[in-house]
Amino acid sequence: MLTLKKPLKPIVIYKNAWLLEAPALQLLAEEFGTPLFVFWEERLWQNVAELKEGLGLLESNFRLFYACKANANLSILRTLLEAGLDLEVNSVGELWKGLKAGYKPQQIIFNGVGKSERELKEAILQGIHCINVDSLSELMDIVHIASRYRKDVPIALRLVPEIKDGGLEGLETGHSQTKFGLPPSQLPEICKVLKDHPYVHLSGLHTHVGSQLSNPVSYRLALERLLGLRKELEKALKTEIKHLNLGGGLPVEYRHEAYPQKAPCPGPDKSFAQSFGPKEMALVLKDVVPQDIVLYFEPGRRLVGNTAFLLTRVVRKKTISARTAPWLILDAGFNVLLEALSYRWYFHLIAAERPQAPHNTGYFVAGPLCDGGDIFPIPHTNCPFYHRLLPENVEEGELLAFLDTGAYTLEQMTYYNGRLPAAAVLIDRKGQIRLIRKRETSQALWANDL
Ligand SMILES: Cc1ncc(COP(=O)(O)O)c(C=O)c1O
Repeated sequence: MLTLKKPLKPIVIYKNAWLLEAPALQLLAEEFGTPLFVFWEERLWQNVAELKEGLGLLESNFRLFYACKANANLSILRTLLEAGLDLEVNSVGELWKGLKAGYKPQQIIFNGVGKSERELKEAILQGIHCINVDSLSELMDIVHIASRYRKDVPIALRLVPEIKDGGLEGLETGHSQTKFGLPPSQLPEICKVLKDHPYVHLSGLHTHVGSQLSNPVSYRLALERLLGLRKELEKALKTEIKHLNLGGGLPVEYRHEAYPQKAPCPGPDKSFAQSFGPKEMALVLKDVVPQDIVLYFEPGRRLVGNTAFLLTRVVRKKTISARTAPWLILDAGFNVLLEALSYRWYFHLIAAERPQAPHNTGYFVAGPLCDGGDIFPIPHTNCPFYHRLLPENVEEGELLAFLDTGAYTLEQMTYYNGRLPAAAVLIDRKGQIRLIRKRETSQALWANDL
């Protein structure tokens, strides 16, 4: 904890992104080093409030299970627990983190395509709220474990809704060309297994269309699919299905249209836009939700995406060809922002110490890794002139910030090229700075090598 006489006050820039004033950024960089993730607790609470308020329009019961794959830092998990959320996990590792943070087993849902028998056993013995079954063979493992330990196991079936939506290919997980879920054609076989195994109870149906969705109607279509199948299953199994789970997917604004209209290269496309929010989602669902059902949601990105920026320093500036823009080499590469490589994700970059300066000068921008893919272009545009627009005369030593880096970042950092993962601090509700992830030391580089 760094105790400050004057509490820090984040400044909101563009619509939803935020930063700190230059002296505070310099203090953080000096005290904790760069690259550094800077989180804002108040924003996390605001996001929870936005979600709860929006979903209040449903006028029916709902529960929120935070998808901790987006960010499973213990401080974030604990804040969201305090804010009243339950938890969605994708591995026994995430289950352990959830329990360590203080979630009760009864608050936890377990998703995933590749849950091993060992993981299923642990989840069952812990007595978690629900296992979302992704395949027939997984169901067979569950029935064997449940019978062996005589444990009642509530399950939901993760179904393929055949809906295509999601920011990018790879984030669209609701159709049958992906690895996720059970096709409805397998339901008769599933029913046969469930009828023979009294320890396993079908308590819900689940589906997840994708992440960074573009249209709230996707939720309605998904719910309609689940409602149709619910009727069939209730009849076949003579049981009552109590919850329908619509997964995650609410989008975040990554673009920040400070991008000049007349720039010679196009800005990021609409897949990086926040096209709707929880209110719009609730309004399209409202008329379709039956009163005898509890709707479950598994928000990840929307809760944490805009709670952080990544502070990075320009390490080198160099010119390779006099006819093109100069290169800025940062101390953060895809070792810290892996999705910049895996999905060519767009994180808006600004000159952190002078955000108001006109960002009108082109630069090629790269990380420090010995890998040609370690660059930060505007995704999918192949602009030959520059990667990013920043102010004139950006020089070595200047601090830059990638905005909206709270989701799918900390969790994916690597040690590639012998570079240590970034530390993270949180500005708490009193405006004080708390270290929430330590900067690692060189020991981490060989700790597990023999
Ligand atoms: C099953 C499931 N639920 C929830 C989420 C969270 O999605 P988002 O972060 O887009 O809200 C994901 C993300 O991939 C998922 O696969």
